[in-house]
Amino acid sequence: MTEQTKPELWARHKKLERNVALLGVAAFAAVTIGGIVEIAPLFWIDNTIEKVEGMRPYTPLEQAGRDIYVREGCYVCHSQMIRPFRDEVERYGHYSLAAESMYDHPFQWGSKRTGPDLARVGLKYSDEWHVQHLTNPQAVVPESVMPQYAFLTRRELQPVDMGARLTALNRVGVPYTKTDIAQANADLAAQADPMADTADLQKRYPKSQVRDFDGQPDKLTEMDALIAYLQVLGTMVDVNAPAAQEVLGQEKGR
Ligand code: HEC
Repeated sequence: MTEQTKPELWARHKKLERNVALLGVAAFAAVTIGGIVEIAPLFWIDNTIEKVEGMRPYTPLEQAGRDIYVREGCYVCHSQMIRPFRDEVERYGHYSLAAESMYDHPFQWGSKRTGPDLARVGLKYSDEWHVQHLTNPQAVVPESVMPQYAFLTRRELQPVDMGARLTALNRVGVPYTKTDIAQANADLAAQADPMADTADLQKRYPKSQVRDFDGQPDKLTEMDALIAYLQVLGTMVDVNAPAAQEVLGQEKGR
C-alpha cells in the first residue's frame, strides 16, 4: 500500500462508520453472507442427519397415539431427548440420535422434565403397567404428581381419516407409501386387534408391535393408541449395535 491510498481508505471507512444507515446495510450484508455460508449447506449435505438403520415412519395407531400425547400435553412434563452426558446415559440409555426424531412432526424433545425422559421408554414396562400407571399414577408411584388419564380407557379412538394424516406427513417428508396411505384406516384398527391378519402391516412397518394394548380386546380406545406409541419409543434403532462397535474399536486401538 502506498502512502497516498492509506488516508483515502481511511476517509471512506470514516464515511461508513459515521453514516448509521450505511453501516446498518453493510453490517446486514456481512451477516447475511456469513449466515448463508454457514446454514445453506446443511440443507444439502447428506450427513446433516446420519442415516440410521431401523428408522421407519410410525404406524397409523402409533401416530394416533402420538397425536393424543401432543393433545394431552405430556411434553409439558416429559422430554424425549437423552443428552450425551454420563448421568443421562446411565439413567435413560444411549443418548438420542438425530435420526431417531427425523419423522416427528412436531418433534417432542421437550424443554422441561417434571417426569422422566421418555425417549427410550418403549418395552421398559408391560402394557398392563402403562394402563395402571396412566389410569392412576399414584397407585404405582405414590408420590407421583402425574395427572390421571383414566378416561383414555373409556374413550373409543375417534374415527379420523388416517389416510389424510399420513398424506399430510408425507408432504413434509415422511416416506409413507401409497399402500400405507390407502391402508391407513385398516392398519389403525388391525394393530390392536388380536384376530386381524397383520402380516402385511408388519412387513410394511418392521418391528411393529401387534396386540391389544389396553386389556379390552373388543374395543379400540385412545389408551390402545397411546400405549402403542409409548411402547415403540426408542425401539426402532438398535442403538447398542453402533455403541458396541465403538467400544470394540476403542479396544482394538489400545
Ligand atoms: C404434571 C406433570 C406430568 C404430566 C402432564 C405427565 N406426566 Fe408422566 N410422569 C410425571 C412424573 C412426575 C413421573 C414420575 C413418577 C411416576 O412414574 O408416576 C411420570 C412418569 C411417567 C412414565 C414412567 C416413566 C418411567 O420411565 O418410569 C410414563 C410412561 C409417563 N409418565 C407417561 C406420561 C404420558 C403418556 C403423559 C400424557 C398423557 C404424561 N406422562 C403426563 C409427570 C407428568
